[in-house]
Amino acid sequence: QRTLRVALLGAGSVGSQVARLLQEHADDFAERSGARLELAGILVRDPDAPRDVPLPRELLTTDAESLILGADIVIELMGGIEPARTHVLAALRSGADVVTGNKALLATHGAEIFELADQVGASVSYEAAVAAAIPIIRPLRDSLAGDRIVRIFGIVNGSTNFILDSMDRQGLSAEEAQRIATELGYLEADPTLDLEGYDAAQKAAILASLAFHTSVEIDDVYREGISDVTADMIEDARRAGSVIKLLAVCERIADAEGEAISVRVYPALISREHPLASVHGGNNAVFVEAEAAGPLMFYGAGAGGVQTASAVLGDVVSAARRHIAGGVGVGETPRQSLPTARIGRITTRY
Ligand code: HSE
Repeated sequence: QRTLRVALLGAGSVGSQVARLLQEHADDFAERSGARLELAGILVRDPDAPRDVPLPRELLTTDAESLILGADIVIELMGGIEPARTHVLAALRSGADVVTGNKALLATHGAEIFELADQVGASVSYEAAVAAAIPIIRPLRDSLAGDRIVRIFGIVNGSTNFILDSMDRQGLSAEEAQRIATELGYLEADPTLDLEGYDAAQKAAILASLAFHTSVEIDDVYREGISDVTADMIEDARRAGSVIKLLAVCERIADAEGEAISVRVYPALISREHPLASVHGGNNAVFVEAEAAGPLMFYGAGAGGVQTASAVLGDVVSAARRHIAGGVGVGETPRQSLPTARIGRITTRY
């Protein structure tokens, strides 16, 4: 049986679970992908730092270049733009397939990354970048590739949903709810990414690109976060039979110049009767409306190390199958880079 060398960049809450599961279920992965997946090394900042999930010391390295050069599949779970961007581009240039959960990177430099991937014939998979374990990238890219998606809307940020939900159901102030979310480790290292809607906007850009077959980046997304939402507003919403949710909306619109795309993130009033009102805690829910398929709903945990690792490992198995098949097909789009979207102006909110 062939062996494929897997390089893991980053050993945070997701990366350490990926390393653990890759080793614990090595036989299953070999059977499912047709190759043994050998974890060749794990790029970390400090090999001697204490870790919640124990990792084999001999696999930890600070030498990104050698690790990437020898790999067939590179899993990037470092987060942030640099050095993640440099490493992903280096991996693609060396002919490796890339699996990433880095929504910030894709929403900012997606065009550059997908263009290079197309040039060198490598794949970039990123199921983990949006809504953790909930399968949403592949359904949009593959299962619905024969349909015409008209709208996607939903809750794609778990920590702000947890905060708004705690304010609504437990009557907490914004500060109290945020403190608990921080204690539970729900917020990004830079909490403004969640609170100001950047994280949701990055995910919305990724979803819109896939749904509408155009390149949408973070600057194309209208964004408002939840930092102005007060306990009084939540109470007013309750009296009106509604809840406040941080909503991401991606849709086709028509404006004066013709057909365009609108992508926006903002706190919205949702009727308590709508299924989105029942999305509690750190969960996510994404509604997709397609012309032939009609409305579809995707629901589950929107964050978490082991949940997100599930999505990463699904992509790793696919990338391994693709490698074994000689780099052709197996669920991958032949062309990953996309034309630029025309972003329209909307005058009404959803
Ligand atoms: N901070 C993100 C969230 C983590 O709260 O949804 C998962 O992407």
